[in-house]
Amino acid sequence: MAGDGTGRLLAISDLHIGYQENRSFVETLRPQTPHDWLLVAGDVADTVADIEWALGLLAERFAKVVWVPGNHELWTPPADPVTLRGVERYEHLVDRCRSLGVLTPEDPYPVWTGPGGPVQIAPLFLLYDYSWRPEGLDTPEAALAEAHRTGIVCTDEYLLHPDPYPTRAQWCAARVALTERRLAARDPDLPTILVNHYPLVREPTRVLWYPIFAQWCGTDATADWHLRFDVAAMVYGHLHIPRTTVHDGVRFEEVSLGYPREWKPRTAPPALRQILPAPTS
Ligand SMILES: [Fe+2]
Ligand SMILES: [Fe+2]
Repeated sequence: MAGDGTGRLLAISDLHIGYQENRSFVETLRPQTPHDWLLVAGDVADTVADIEWALGLLAERFAKVVWVPGNHELWTPPADPVTLRGVERYEHLVDRCRSLGVLTPEDPYPVWTGPGGPVQIAPLFLLYDYSWRPEGLDTPEAALAEAHRTGIVCTDEYLLHPDPYPTRAQWCAARVALTERRLAARDPDLPTILVNHYPLVREPTRVLWYPIFAQWCGTDATADWHLRFDVAAMVYGHLHIPRTTVHDGVRFEEVSLGYPREWKPRTAPPALRQILPAPTS
């Protein structure tokens, strides 16, 4: 229920609550109105127990919580008693979310009818496919070899298992195909808010400190989705570079908290980002 004119559609990502400072920050998160919704764009934590704790806390406080997985949720860390891998791990997390009342990419797209609405909110799980490679490195193999040579290798290579898909790129292709069909079949009369752990376009990764890392940050397959699906705003995280950018006239919101060493120098952690009603600058 968000139709009384007071609710806000808010977003955050990359809570990484394995860090005590971040866990404490999550405990301070509260809605300003009883009608506020919260979009959580992945990287809540590395273990199932921590993910459940954080999403459970938020689900008790916000009128609705919508979650998409980040790469960290999909890791199978050796210390986690939940040893599920790949698709089974993702499905287990979806199942846990359902028991908490948290919406996931596997649910019908909810409609925000509060201020700035109505819009359809589409939580997406797409992964990446190593297509965002540095210039001159024409194959995934070459880009990965260069990453190993320079020591900039995402931990996903060791902990994010694609089972039963042979590769993460093949899992990504399957998710992209399935999601594209769903978006094409949505109610065409409503604009959308697309929520994904990764940006749908490559431009936001151009400011990465290590450009070689972009291969773990998205896929060329979504390069025109912000133009095809009547997108009012695209919400993402993962880069740990919180900011607002505009691509082809569409607002992109990077909403990450990030690691304590990243947000603490700013003296205060970023507040929840308001997605709707659209902030006037
Ligand atoms: Fe993250
Ligand atoms: Fe991430």
